[in-house]
Amino acid sequence: MICRDLNADIDHILVGEKELADIVTRLAEAIDRDAQGQESDLLLLGILKGSVVFMGDLMKKIRTPMEIDFMKVSSYGASTVSSGELKISLDLHREHLETLDIVIVEDIVDSGNTLYKLVNYLRGRGAARVRSCTLLDKPERRKVDFQPDYVGVTIPDEFVVGYGLDYNEKYRELPYVGVLKKSVYQ
Ligand code: IMP
Ligand code: MG
Repeated sequence: MICRDLNADIDHILVGEKELADIVTRLAEAIDRDAQGQESDLLLLGILKGSVVFMGDLMKKIRTPMEIDFMKVSSYGASTVSSGELKISLDLHREHLETLDIVIVEDIVDSGNTLYKLVNYLRGRGAARVRSCTLLDKPERRKVDFQPDYVGVTIPDEFVVGYGLDYNEKYRELPYVGVLKKSVYQ
């Protein structure tokens, strides 16, 4: 197997390792603050696969006792209607969501369709509280009226990879978030 240097496909680094660590610490503190005095149990719900690196770092920094789970979802089209077009390939296999304070952990919010629909879906299943935490936010690309509760950093409308984010399943292992060279996908 030929060993390619993934770094060579990156135009520039957008969020470096030190900044990522600072972001994770800040988000963990905010989640801890909001969990104080809550009767319900914190569940960190990672969205596969893009959130795994972020989720692993975030859960280590949160002091509130928690459980973790994962879902695999994607959204079809630009419809704003309910959860009708949410494609669930791995569901949350739990009962009694009424006792749960769910924080969805996502890599990036783009159109907003996925999280908008997922939040509605989980509320519809009766969760006590549903909030969302995204590492990256591209507000310029928004197609639905959706604002995540916790945002790591707002980025411009550029295609990024690394720290869990992929292009065709590649580049997830890069330790930073970088802008992919256009020559890679054009
Ligand atoms: P949306 O908010 O429903 O449009 O979808 C967000 C999903 O699109 C993310 O979870 C990513 O899987 C994918 N995505 C959007 N922008 C990027 C990007 O710049 N790099 C990698 N994946 C992206
Ligand atoms: Mg994703």
